[in-house]
Amino acid sequence: MENFTFKNDTKIIFGRGSENKAGEEILKYGKKVLFHYGSGSIKKSGLYEKILKSLKEKDILVFELGGVKPNPVVSLIRQGIQICRENKIEFILAVGGGSVIDSAKAISMGINYNGDVWDFFEGKAKLESTIPMGVILTIPAAGSESSVVTVITNEDGLIKRGFHSDKLLPKFAILNPELTFTLPVYQIACGSADILAHTFERYFTQTANVDLTDRLCEGLMKTVIENSKIAVKDPKNYDAMAELMWASTIAHNGILGTGRVEDWASHKLGHELSALYGITHGASLAVMFPAWMKYVYEYNINRFAQLAVRVFNIDYDLNDVEKLALRGIKELENHFKEIGLPATLSELKVPSDKFELMAEKAVVKGPIGNFIKLGKEDVVKIYELAK
Ligand code: NZQ
Ligand code: ZN
Repeated sequence: MENFTFKNDTKIIFGRGSENKAGEEILKYGKKVLFHYGSGSIKKSGLYEKILKSLKEKDILVFELGGVKPNPVVSLIRQGIQICRENKIEFILAVGGGSVIDSAKAISMGINYNGDVWDFFEGKAKLESTIPMGVILTIPAAGSESSVVTVITNEDGLIKRGFHSDKLLPKFAILNPELTFTLPVYQIACGSADILAHTFERYFTQTANVDLTDRLCEGLMKTVIENSKIAVKDPKNYDAMAELMWASTIAHNGILGTGRVEDWASHKLGHELSALYGITHGASLAVMFPAWMKYVYEYNINRFAQLAVRVFNIDYDLNDVEKLALRGIKELENHFKEIGLPATLSELKVPSDKFELMAEKAVVKGPIGNFIKLGKEDVVKIYELAK
């Protein structure tokens, strides 16, 4: 096990009716709030009115910025920064999924910074301060509700990039599974693939003697696989959505990565697909992760065999570990298919003519991943495997 420091102080408020607690939590930080949301699902579901009413009851002054699109863009973030500066906003409330939360995080970064917020994503600026933000989550997926990351797309150059800082941890995250009942089945499936992907990024490590976190990862994967199958058939199943929602948070709040070197190459491969073709994040991972696995499994066959045995309950056959490893990858592909996710880039209508360009962009800061290091040629080969 590697040395580590772990701290995650996002307050989790879970369960039915928990969104009603937003007002009292916000008042700990201020009375002027930017209410940030997406393209309309919260208006259709009635959540928008409910939140406005409950904030007004607490005499909170609400400014609004909706319109966040999946794979959130820097231009709207710049607008948000301006609104916050002009109105001396004290708190940002993000209501939605990873895209809204990440947009809110980026706004909170830019308010006290003199330059352009994209500088942080270019590595040109150090984050000194943010303004506090909180979350009402409506989709179990990205884990941004208690992660130290924001992932933003710059329309200029179609660059999708992440920025990490402890200062980005939301002050609170409200998780009411009932708020997910309006989700399209495809989004449930994509979200569950993202949760699995966050676990894989930690599980596939070369760090030895990490049994506790291995078992935590495996428990989480089994829970997500079982409950995503239920949820896509019965999207209003409270218990299944509750399991997915809590898994979304646990998968990406840092605990599963403690003591181990994480990978994150597959996410970078997926981000290129989202940047160029607008592919939904979870769908990009459902295609790229199995392809990455096929490319790298030989570098630690036992770890892949362990996945097959412990997560997919394949019979243990020590005489053919490779077969076992490949069977685990196949089972994962079958699972994604069963819940309605794409298996190939052609299903996502991604042509092969930009593989070189995407690979160049993916490795622009140097080789990616840690399970094995991937250079441009490797990345092209993985896109080929995903065709
Ligand atoms: O915009 P609205 O109208 O709300 O619709 C959204 C959107 O179309 C819809 N939706 C959300 N909740 C709903 C709902 N529709 C009906 N009922 C509800 N209850 O779902 C669609 C997808 O929303 P989005 O926020 O994009 O989903 P997700 O949570 O998967 O977030 C994806 C983004 O998060 C980033 C991804 O790269 C992507 O940009 N990630 C952020 C991470 C982080 N900050 O830690 C880590 C992840 O690896 C990921 O990269
Ligand atoms: Zn992800």
